[in-house]
Amino acid sequence: MIRPHLLLRVVATAGDIAAAAAPVVLGAEHEAIAQRGVFRIALSGGSTPRALYELLATMRDPGPRFQFWQIFFGDERMVAADHPDSNYRMAREALLERAAIAPQQVHRVRTEAGSAAQAAELYAGELRSCFGLAATRPPRFDLVLLGMGADGHTASLFPGSSAVTDASTEPVVATWVEKLAADRVTLTAATINAARSVVFLVAGADKAAALRAVLAADDGADAQAQPPPARAISPSDGSLVFVVDRAAAASLPAG
Ligand code: 6PG
Repeated sequence: MIRPHLLLRVVATAGDIAAAAAPVVLGAEHEAIAQRGVFRIALSGGSTPRALYELLATMRDPGPRFQFWQIFFGDERMVAADHPDSNYRMAREALLERAAIAPQQVHRVRTEAGSAAQAAELYAGELRSCFGLAATRPPRFDLVLLGMGADGHTASLFPGSSAVTDASTEPVVATWVEKLAADRVTLTAATINAARSVVFLVAGADKAAALRAVLAADDGADAQAQPPPARAISPSDGSLVFVVDRAAAASLPAG
């Protein structure tokens, strides 16, 4: 059995994920523009989303109405904005430049601000300003796109990292990732769970065990084991969609 209150879409190959996810993005965009006149989306990093971004940049009739988009990032590596590992750089190449999205519509994590903590503090301020928020309320994104690692991490919520247990009211935090020996800045699970829509894009056999642990109704873990961070993503008042390829879905329980 799969956990309730989510939609699982299994496609044949990784190359099919973009075409399956694009309509979900456009659906969230349509609702947001109709209801609020703006579409606030948090992009995922990693490699899986790149093809989706490239597809969105080329779609016409219907295509995205980018003039209404405000673009944020679910997490960022603490590298320069033009570094090959930068999530912003990947989005800039795959979407922002191709779709000619105006710089004032793009809200990247200012990794040049100094420490990860300083970058996170700046980003929290930018989120509050863009969403017009008081200090304690989390921003409510229209859509948060997420990937998932083979260890069940998502955004930069890595197993055992401080970000996973962070109980602050900050919408975004700095976190040290031991396995990467790297600092990251990430939206918190609470902020992601405040979203109207969350979409995971997961591909590859190496993700199969983690995806089962995230999606199985009974994750089979013993009480002591910590559930994978991606299992904590469950929007309190929003939709949760997993678009996965067959290889990643190979260990899921039937039915
Ligand atoms: C990052 C992402 C991260 C990513 C997963 C999956 O900054 O790397 O936020 O959570 O989505 O690691 O990455 P792939 O799509 O490359 O498998």
